[in-house]
Amino acid sequence: MSISIKIINIFIIFSFLINLNHSINFECQYGYFRWATKVDDKIIPIFKNQYSCVANITGVIAYNTVTEVSNNHLDGRSSSNVIVLKIFKQSLKKFPENVEEFFPYLKAIFINQCKLKSIAKNDLRPFERLQFVSFTGNNIKNVNSDVFQYNPMITFVGLGSNPIEHIGAKFFDHLKSLKTIILSNNTCIDEKAIRNNEHLSQLKLDVAEKCPPTKEMLEYDKNGTKKRQFFRRALGLEFLDDEESSAIESGL
Ligand SMILES: *[C@@H]1O[C@H](CO)[C@@H](O)[C@H](O)[C@H]1NC(C)=O
Ligand SMILES: *[C@@H]1O[C@H](CO)[C@@H](O)[C@H](O)[C@H]1NC(C)=O
Ligand SMILES: *[C@@H]1O[C@H](CO)[C@@H](O)[C@H](O)[C@H]1NC(C)=O
Repeated sequence: MSISIKIINIFIIFSFLINLNHSINFECQYGYFRWATKVDDKIIPIFKNQYSCVANITGVIAYNTVTEVSNNHLDGRSSSNVIVLKIFKQSLKKFPENVEEFFPYLKAIFINQCKLKSIAKNDLRPFERLQFVSFTGNNIKNVNSDVFQYNPMITFVGLGSNPIEHIGAKFFDHLKSLKTIILSNNTCIDEKAIRNNEHLSQLKLDVAEKCPPTKEMLEYDKNGTKKRQFFRRALGLEFLDDEESSAIESGL
């Protein structure tokens, strides 16, 4: 008895200590990288020679507010020059908050194999220049219609290798600039469209048929922004059909 009480006490104290620290830090490897993704052994170039942070996460992830990014920048560069953020194989169930305070000008966000459960429009709202997003290999099940509502320049969406079952009925309405979308290896669909309008049209039809929104998601669309919180769990994006976006030819 007393042993288990002690264990519980220790657990409570430990949790309390953890809760005192609300922050996470990005330990970045900064560099000019060329970004590409591999789909069926085909390399698809995404983005050339962009100043990037490939981040490891330290600190307590429960609250996942970013309070610091490392300062080991290349000469003459600073955080506001960072165009690409990649987080790979870190434990991150929720989209990190406050990223924009450090990296306000991101055009690409890759969060791959991080156990992310959802993406919501407000996660991406600060990044109005966003063009490329990848959330490959996470735990996203539902993708709401409005996840890219505030990102009109998105051309590339990578959502492969998630357990996606449902996608909002108006998902594509917010993706007017979309050229490439990868939905390979999901629960409801295994398909992609890579700069091919015909494939994209077919994919949209297949999404509607195979990944219909839940009743809740339809209601959410109707309610508009009112109940955003309720659906934060529901959104997803993937970028790389294969599990990771790779930085190739780094230093070019
Ligand atoms: C991030 O973690 C990986 C694997 O542990 C390591 O190889 C890499 O050097 C780390 N990067 C930074 C910037 O600390
Ligand atoms: C498909 O996704 C699962 C995780 O959902 C992953 O374990 C598996 O490696 C993926 N397969 C391919 C071919 O990418
Ligand atoms: C939509 O709005 C109605 C009425 O305000 C509310 O009862 C319902 O829970 C909302 N549904 C969702 C999914 O937000």
